[in-house]
Amino acid sequence: MSDLFSLAGKKAIVTGGAQGLGRMIAEGLLRAGATVAITSRKADICEAAASEMGALGTCIALPADLSTPEAAVDLVARYRDAVGACHILVNNAGKTWGGEIDSFPDKAWPGVMAVNVQTPFTMVRELLPELGAVGTDDDPARIINIGSVAGMKTERLSAYSYAASKAAVHMMTRDLAGDLAARNITVNAVIPGFFPTKMTAHMRDEDSVDAGLLAHIPLGRLGKPDDIAGIVIFLCSRAGAYVTGAQIPVDGGVVGCG
Ligand SMILES: NC(=O)c1ccc[n+]([C@@H]2O[C@H](COP(=O)([O-])OP(=O)(O)OC[C@H]3O[C@@H](n4cnc5c(N)ncnc54)[C@H](OP(=O)(O)O)[C@@H]3O)[C@@H](O)[C@H]2O)c1
Repeated sequence: MSDLFSLAGKKAIVTGGAQGLGRMIAEGLLRAGATVAITSRKADICEAAASEMGALGTCIALPADLSTPEAAVDLVARYRDAVGACHILVNNAGKTWGGEIDSFPDKAWPGVMAVNVQTPFTMVRELLPELGAVGTDDDPARIINIGSVAGMKTERLSAYSYAASKAAVHMMTRDLAGDLAARNITVNAVIPGFFPTKMTAHMRDEDSVDAGLLAHIPLGRLGKPDDIAGIVIFLCSRAGAYVTGAQIPVDGGVVGCG
């Protein structure tokens, strides 16, 4: 029982792991015993975050701007050199765009779709040799794609390309799960509700959260680091070995109770 949630000996990469949800996830994986590589677009921010997280375990900075599939190919090549094996891929980096429908610009589509959907797919494709090499019947390799409640139900956020991209992430997750099960690689989508990060900063005023937003969340609060880290640790550990193709909301009931 004591090792049911242990990640000792596992090697992981978390895109966008220097801040926000990615950082919460990276810290959780480190605490559970994994070696973790993180990305950020700015090298100094990436290095500083990895050095801070070094207090929890081995954390490696791999700066990358994942706006193009070529950048994802390059990132995986650098990961291979720096870390080698890969048991866990967390596709967390994401981009949003909000705007009124009458003036929602065409340029709000390609960048969002590239960062949220295309480069996560490229990360999966490029890491297949590593993931396939470590996955076994009892202990598969794990891919976790970070989706969003906005891709599951109408949230009226005026984030049209973002919501569509996240619905695509959810479907891509199921598609990949079916195709990769025979290689002992599980693929799941973790679907956050509202967490206090830079992406949701416009919904908060310093520490006070809009009462309307809290009323919209059945459990009446925003998500916390342990909420997101806990589900990812579960999915990556022995406890989650039999789960694949799942779309798991971590949202205080926004999807399930709606
Ligand atoms: N916060 C929420 O309530 C919420 C809800 C549902 C889903 N999500 C999802 O959770 C994930 C993390 O978002 P967050 O809330 O933590 O927001 P955030 O603090 O704004 O973080 C966004 C992350 O994505 C990375 N990123 C953005 N564009 C990138 C690019 N072109 N190349 C590489 N990395 C890029 C950022 O890295 P840098 O360090 O380079 O900035 C950062 O780590 C996203 O997929 C988001 O859609 C969040």
